[in-house]
Amino acid sequence: MPSYEIAVIPGDGIGPEVVCEALKALNALAPRFGFTIDPRSYPFGAEYYLKTGEVLPKGAFDDLGAARALLLGAVGDPRVPPGPLEQELLLALRFRFDQYLNLRPSRTWPNAPVPVALPEGAEIDILVVRENTEDFYMNLGGSGRAPGLRAELPFERGLYKGEARIEVDLDPPTEAAFTLGILTSPATLRVADRAFRLASERGERVLYSATKSNALPHLYGFWDRTVAEAAKAHPGVRLRNINVDNLAYQLPRSPQLYGVVLCPNLFGDIISDLAAGLSGGLGLAASGNIGDGLSMFEPVHGSAPDIAGTGKANPLAAILSVGLMLTHLGEKDAAAALEKAVETYLEKSPRVSLPYELEGGAPCPKVGDLVVQAIEGRL
Ligand code: NAD
Ligand code: IPM
Ligand code: MN
Repeated sequence: MPSYEIAVIPGDGIGPEVVCEALKALNALAPRFGFTIDPRSYPFGAEYYLKTGEVLPKGAFDDLGAARALLLGAVGDPRVPPGPLEQELLLALRFRFDQYLNLRPSRTWPNAPVPVALPEGAEIDILVVRENTEDFYMNLGGSGRAPGLRAELPFERGLYKGEARIEVDLDPPTEAAFTLGILTSPATLRVADRAFRLASERGERVLYSATKSNALPHLYGFWDRTVAEAAKAHPGVRLRNINVDNLAYQLPRSPQLYGVVLCPNLFGDIISDLAAGLSGGLGLAASGNIGDGLSMFEPVHGSAPDIAGTGKANPLAAILSVGLMLTHLGEKDAAAALEKAVETYLEKSPRVSLPYELEGGAPCPKVGDLVVQAIEGRL
């Protein structure tokens, strides 16, 4: 019987609340599908940082890297200024384990209201494929007074390491800031190739690539040319570049027209929240950060401090992230059963048993219990 060691970082805010429900669902699936789970929980997040002064202890990456997969709740806390937790924990994990493929599916669900009008019978089924290691997420930047603003910025990714040397001079002198975005051809080609394959597996005729080469031709003109290069190996799927501002306009008007949407890192972050908002909310938006080593599964949403501790968090995004994890582990039947169980729960529940986010009255643990009942065929 396969046994999977799963590293778990519940994190901050609603992170621990939703992860608890995701683990309930995983534990209910394991005996039914003939595998066991060996979860190892790590206390990293705001509390750990405030107590110890460090985001991650020495050796944390090695410990985490020994697991078969990582389940993360969310990080971010009002007591910690934006930056260290997101950079040194969440983004550091994505980069350290070279999790270059970020999958962010959004679909319509029973009883999850869509905030825009859809044609009769139409459904949303969008897969945002986000490049997850480059673009403006290189964390290369600085601020200060120019002239004299100088920076030597080393960086490292799975595919390469390098250094950027920047000088910013301004006349008249003033305070200024800059951020450097980088795209490379191997990183763009590998994610584009995966996006074409995924589009083909889903029977899509078109792959959309969200770009902004009109305003940022150096960076996104390069993206367009490189994605077009990748397209040559996939003649069955047509590549359509769409300006990301136009995509943000079109998506709420006709979300049913979009299937697989390939995005550079920053646009992928934004478009995936938009797609989530169109199809049931962030509480239903799952994601997988996939690489050749340790892959990480997490809801698209953050720690939602505005509702933490109120019971109003919807755990379905974390639960569905476990589904993406099971697919990644090769447990496809368990993953399909989990998606079906969420569907059954949403379909059969009276309003009062739906998550608050879906205008229901079921607190987070109750939602988890009902999904477990659906998994066990008791709903
Ligand atoms: P957020 O995703 O935490 O919340 C946005 C809005 O959606 C809030 O109104 C929140 O209440 C609601 N929401 C989110 N998840 C929900 C759920 N499961 N059920 C019901 N409602 C839900 O985004 P934010 O407010 O911009 O960020 C809060 C903190 O989280 C920040 O510190 C941010 O940096 C961090 N963050 C972390 C991650 C991550 O760890 N992966 C992702 C995004 C944001
Ligand atoms: C996400 C988040 C992160 C991102 C933040 C917290 C750094 O918004 O996972 O969508 O921008 O990737
Ligand atoms: Mn985001």
